[in-house]
Amino acid sequence: MCGIVGYLGQNQAYPYLIEGLKSLEYRGYDSAGVALMNGSLRVFKKQGKVRNLEAFVDGKNLSGNAGIGHTRWATHGEPSDQNAHPHTTQKGSLALIHNGIIENYETLRKELISRGHVFESETDTEVLIHLIEEIQINNHCMLEKAVQLALQRVEGAYAIIVMSKDDPEKLVAARKSSPLVVGMGDNEYFIASDTMAMGQHVNRVVYLDDEQIAICRSTKEIEIKTIEDIPVTPYIEEFDSNLSILDKQGFEHFMLKEIYEQPKSIRNGLRGRITPDGEIHLKGILEHAERFCEAKRIIIVSCGTSWHAGLVGEYLIEKYAKVPVEVEYASEFRYRDPLITDEDVVIAISQSGETADTLAALEIAKEKGAFTFGICNVVGSSIARVTDAGIYTKAGNEIGVASTKAFTSQMTVLTMMALQMGKIKGTIERAELRDRVKELDRLPDLIKQALSGDKITHLIGDLFAQASNFLYLGRGVNFPIALEGALKLKEISYIHAEGYPAAEMKHGPIALIDENMPVVVIANSKENYEKVVSNIQEVKARNGKVIAIIETDDRDIFKLADAVIEVPKCSELLTPFLSVIPLQLLSYHIANKLGKDVDQPRNLAKSVTVE
Ligand code: G6P
Repeated sequence: MCGIVGYLGQNQAYPYLIEGLKSLEYRGYDSAGVALMNGSLRVFKKQGKVRNLEAFVDGKNLSGNAGIGHTRWATHGEPSDQNAHPHTTQKGSLALIHNGIIENYETLRKELISRGHVFESETDTEVLIHLIEEIQINNHCMLEKAVQLALQRVEGAYAIIVMSKDDPEKLVAARKSSPLVVGMGDNEYFIASDTMAMGQHVNRVVYLDDEQIAICRSTKEIEIKTIEDIPVTPYIEEFDSNLSILDKQGFEHFMLKEIYEQPKSIRNGLRGRITPDGEIHLKGILEHAERFCEAKRIIIVSCGTSWHAGLVGEYLIEKYAKVPVEVEYASEFRYRDPLITDEDVVIAISQSGETADTLAALEIAKEKGAFTFGICNVVGSSIARVTDAGIYTKAGNEIGVASTKAFTSQMTVLTMMALQMGKIKGTIERAELRDRVKELDRLPDLIKQALSGDKITHLIGDLFAQASNFLYLGRGVNFPIALEGALKLKEISYIHAEGYPAAEMKHGPIALIDENMPVVVIANSKENYEKVVSNIQEVKARNGKVIAIIETDDRDIFKLADAVIEVPKCSELLTPFLSVIPLQLLSYHIANKLGKDVDQPRNLAKSVTVE
């Protein structure tokens, strides 16, 4: 969490910083701040969103060709002006921004206090700037040397940018376990947590690796070293800055735009990987066919919505490729000494590719010799880079904190993987494979039809927006969709919601059902259809209100339920894709009706780079 951005060049830094921060707000929005260099170092910071900072600096002198900016997701210390970044030193000569957690900050802080340092914030970050200043004074060294020496003493995760009044033509950046990319234009540098914050003049980028430091001087080429001072030849990649343009394209929120983009994002994920006549060619699997075919077990590690995609993947891979699959919360996996061998394949699913727990789980899997595979959306992200192989979901930038199109793209990739593995292993009949692939090719059109039911979903959302609790029920491959529907509602409307396998309702949740409890039942699947109908009867018998997701023209459930949302008929394989669409829309409309901040819900962040 936290977004960081830096600019050094011939132009005014402030406009770039503020635009960069706006595009990084998905990483946190508890406070925002900038430091600008123009002879002296001036720092402006404010609790709340970037727009609060903009109002605060209105009318102030914001000139300067170098600057750094930060948007915070609070870890150490409450959201406040005082705890906002940038942090400066007592002498006011250095300013620093940080994303990550300095785990040994207590020890360092005590040490520094004993040597006379006075702290102004409760953050872990502030120790770092004091340490850098002390080292620089004691060793009479350059800024980059002091940063290297200070970072050698730090345990934890960091992406930092530091600037100094005494060395105004320079920005020093470094990273470990938090993302950082340096963009370059003509004689200008843009440093940021994510390429989305890069200005439109960037044409080349360098992704820093762990424990690397970048020294950016206004008129020189970038210099990269390790924090142990070993020089590194930068791997410079071409960059198309048009890809970082963010626009709601007429939609009220990014989330709604992203829900509506799903026919396109799924099509992008399928393109070049399947053909309309039923062929499949998934390079990421084919190039490692042996590892996948010989795998004794596949373990999927992920968090949040990506974990739900993993659960869908479990059903599909076991069904079509006949390999046992376990799906684990990355945060649990990493701390329980898991039994992994070199015959296992560990798949990490992550939209951002930066989730700290997922990254740590991968490290453990690697140590134990497993083959690691990433399913990521963000190109060049940490998970994409540390895994042995992987597949990009190609969903495009996702800005809404609550994940929507990235989820369906993850399911798309997992479906193709299951089918491709089944093909290689011979566990799926040729004819069936062809049929399944042909269905996948129709998926974007079916999603388009499902989206056309939005008006009804909107009405239903308005009707039920005042409920305090929701229950979501699903079976089989639609059970994870029930979890995802409940998570979406919680995330953006702050209404308590739980997802359950429909049959489990009688083991507890049924006690909660009365006339005030809306129960969303996913009933567009034909597998276990009769049983789902019985579950609906059980809810109705207790006066619960049933909102059912049904196949077009399902008259039986239409008569039983209080409200229905129809989705197009499809094969079992595609039912989770179609059932999740109305659930995304339902949570969106409820949150919007309640006046919540749909794109940036309270306390959440899109990229969770702390554990
Ligand atoms: C956060 C986001 C969720 C996301 C989860 C995992 O909680 O708000 O939308 O599902 O992190 O993120 P990842 O980037 O690893 O998919």
